[in-house]
Amino acid sequence: VWNFSQLREFSQQAASVLSGACGLQPGSRVAVVLPRVPEWWLVTLGCMRAGLVFMPGTIQMKAKDIIYRLQVSKARAIVAGDEVAQVVDTVASDCPSLKTEASTTHCCVETGSQEAAAIYFTSGTSGLPKMTEHSHSSLGMKAKMDAGLWIDLQASDIMWTISDTFDPVVILKVLSSNPINSLVGAPIIYRILVQQDLSSYKFPHLQNCFSGGETLLPDTLVKWRAQTGLDIREFYGQTETGLTCRVSKTMKIKPGYLGTAIPHYGVQVLDDKGKVLPPGTEGDVGIRVKPIRPIGIFSGYVDNPEKTAANIRGDFWILGDRAVKDQDGYFQYLGRADDIINSSGYRIGPSEVENALMEHPAVVETAVISSPDPVRGEVVKAFVVLAPQFLSHDPDQLTKELQQHMKSVTAPYKHPRKVEFVLDLPKTITGKVQRTKLRDKKWKTSRQAGAQ
Ligand SMILES: *[C@@H]1O[C@H](CO)[C@@H](O)[C@H](O)[C@H]1NC(C)=O
Ligand SMILES: *[C@@H]1O[C@H](CO)[C@@H](O)[C@H](O)[C@H]1NC(C)=O
Repeated sequence: VWNFSQLREFSQQAASVLSGACGLQPGSRVAVVLPRVPEWWLVTLGCMRAGLVFMPGTIQMKAKDIIYRLQVSKARAIVAGDEVAQVVDTVASDCPSLKTEASTTHCCVETGSQEAAAIYFTSGTSGLPKMTEHSHSSLGMKAKMDAGLWIDLQASDIMWTISDTFDPVVILKVLSSNPINSLVGAPIIYRILVQQDLSSYKFPHLQNCFSGGETLLPDTLVKWRAQTGLDIREFYGQTETGLTCRVSKTMKIKPGYLGTAIPHYGVQVLDDKGKVLPPGTEGDVGIRVKPIRPIGIFSGYVDNPEKTAANIRGDFWILGDRAVKDQDGYFQYLGRADDIINSSGYRIGPSEVENALMEHPAVVETAVISSPDPVRGEVVKAFVVLAPQFLSHDPDQLTKELQQHMKSVTAPYKHPRKVEFVLDLPKTITGKVQRTKLRDKKWKTSRQAGAQ
């Protein structure tokens, strides 16, 4: 436990080390690649005090990920733990900008609200990770509004965000023996927890459970509720926009829906021209940025104004996701716009197909893509990771069974005409499925075959 006055003192020390001992000037970029240790906060707060732009990254990065980030950002320093320090030593000679590697009072640098505070690398589900710059007002004010106003956290709350690798038994033990009252995790975390025997654990303090990053299956919500008596509230956003939609404490939970827009973001579903579509119509998700750009939207992709401009349509910032808004303002996520499948004139979102497939007991994980087809142009193809007890089943029989299941739970045109069983799926280091990798392979071989 650190109280706020300690946090102030320690982060001032961190700022002194960074600006004094390391000699970093305001505006310099600092990569922060630490495991889940409390010191992460000292370093990032220290950077903000010293006017340094911090760039957080996961310790799961490999040498090539680190070298890419250091080179493209021209980082002056990296703060790394033992896990990553050796890798940094091996790549340091290829990163000429890198000057400093470092293992009680400080005078805060004065920064403008629009000055850069942090750069986040996007997870890179399609293409290379992009540098997303956020200003001091975007980080500070938005974080405070998101936590306090939009998801109703209190100053006394103890919140645990699980984002790295994890062991379900450790999570359950930590949750039952510590006064944690808010839990944040990707849907996969809840999915794995409900597969455990929860009857031997009690969570006397836990009150708020949040999920984001991928769609939460209604089935997971139902099982979690049955076993713990707690709801899971979804939230939605991206590196560029921060928290965008959520289900607040007083709102009704609608399974399969992300919740409504946070009040100071004008979130709409748009057509190709940037016109707002009525409820019940599928389109692209956008946040209004003209005439007023709301606090919290990132400043732009670093050194890439063309890419930033390419995502503006009319008065809106386009998030690259497809969704439907209902009469009550709740959004239903349909998938990344790039991932939408166009089969015989039907537009099919991979998420809805994946969610329906996941309801079958044989399916542990799945990714659905568009696959080239001589007759239909494109068809739905599912890559499926099977549950252990189904591995010995006849694959043709299983394929038929899954197709039958799909026809019974969704519109028949959505059923996967092709099914491939795999042992795992390609993922980014933050655990998001890279559908582009699966798709590109298929389309490339088909084009080559066509050329021959
Ligand atoms: C914060 O914690 C430190 C160390 O335990 C203690 O000395 C100090 O009085 C605390 N400050 C406040 C404001 O509670
Ligand atoms: C979908 O495919 C059909 C042909 O099957 C084509 O006419 C239509 O333009 C495509 N739609 C999109 C949005 O690509």
